[in-house]
Amino acid sequence: MSANQTVDFPMNSSLSSVRTTDKEKSDTQGPYKATSSIAQIQLVNSHLEVYDPSDDSFVLVDALLADRARLIEHQPKICLEVGCGSGYVITSLALMLQEEAPRIHYFATDINLHAVATTRGTLEAHGVHAEVVATDIASGLQRRLAGLVDVIVVNPPYVPTPEEEVACEGITASWAGGENGRRVIDRILPVADELLSERGWLYMVILAENNPLEICRRMGEKGYGSKIVLQRSTQEERLQVIKFWREGAAAGLPREGSRGGSSTSESWLSHFPLFSFLRKGENGG
Ligand SMILES: C[S@@+](CC[C@H](N)C(=O)[O-])C[C@H]1O[C@@H](n2cnc3c(N)ncnc32)[C@H](O)[C@@H]1O
Repeated sequence: MSANQTVDFPMNSSLSSVRTTDKEKSDTQGPYKATSSIAQIQLVNSHLEVYDPSDDSFVLVDALLADRARLIEHQPKICLEVGCGSGYVITSLALMLQEEAPRIHYFATDINLHAVATTRGTLEAHGVHAEVVATDIASGLQRRLAGLVDVIVVNPPYVPTPEEEVACEGITASWAGGENGRRVIDRILPVADELLSERGWLYMVILAENNPLEICRRMGEKGYGSKIVLQRSTQEERLQVIKFWREGAAAGLPREGSRGGSSTSESWLSHFPLFSFLRKGENGG
């Protein structure tokens, strides 16, 4: 399987703290070990008003595991999770990178105060650290971190809902995405653009109903390449984890695609038969 192919993993059935994906096995034939730790479900703190790890959380962590060797090679200095909920994702990211990339500074944000407390508890239970901030998207951090974040991970509220449910307090804020599920996503994208470093990567969970093609076109206009790292269908949802990276990363910096992965022509758009067809037409082929 080539590095840029869409990877379909089966539903997460294991609650084990150590998992090795097929993709990771192939990625780790290099210098990195083939297994890595992620957060243990039994150590993840919970609260009635906080989103528990679910299929979308698992798909994001599995995508990060699938890209782990690239992440290690990328040597990020600052990683941020927007909308950390229980802390399962940011804790897993810290655990999976801690051995080979031990000096990363982690940040996490959530608009829900209970989520902030829960994430702190989950991090502590696993012996890893992140600065966890109660804020809307990243507004409390934007001045401090502008242009400095190498990896952003987001599992946003993406469910299409009535507009009035968006920005509700507590657990409703976990899923309520307004029209097309895009209300919060569309606010996160420009913030990510502002925060990401020259070589920054953004991993975002997106639902088919969110119109991922349009999201990638919009990010493309800002100079980002994109590809699906992983997609998974549950009984209710078709989830994709899309990775975005700056196409114009400064020369000499490690960047997406440097390990034989994606380039512009291998971008996420090429996963769409319609777009491939249009491109063939454009190229006369
Ligand atoms: C689908 S949950 C994901 C939780 C966790 N990341 C996971 O994957 O299990 C979305 C999270 O985003 C948070 N959230 C919603 N709107 C937000 C906003 N404007 N700023 C920051 N966090 C927000 C919610 O409170 C919730 O914790």
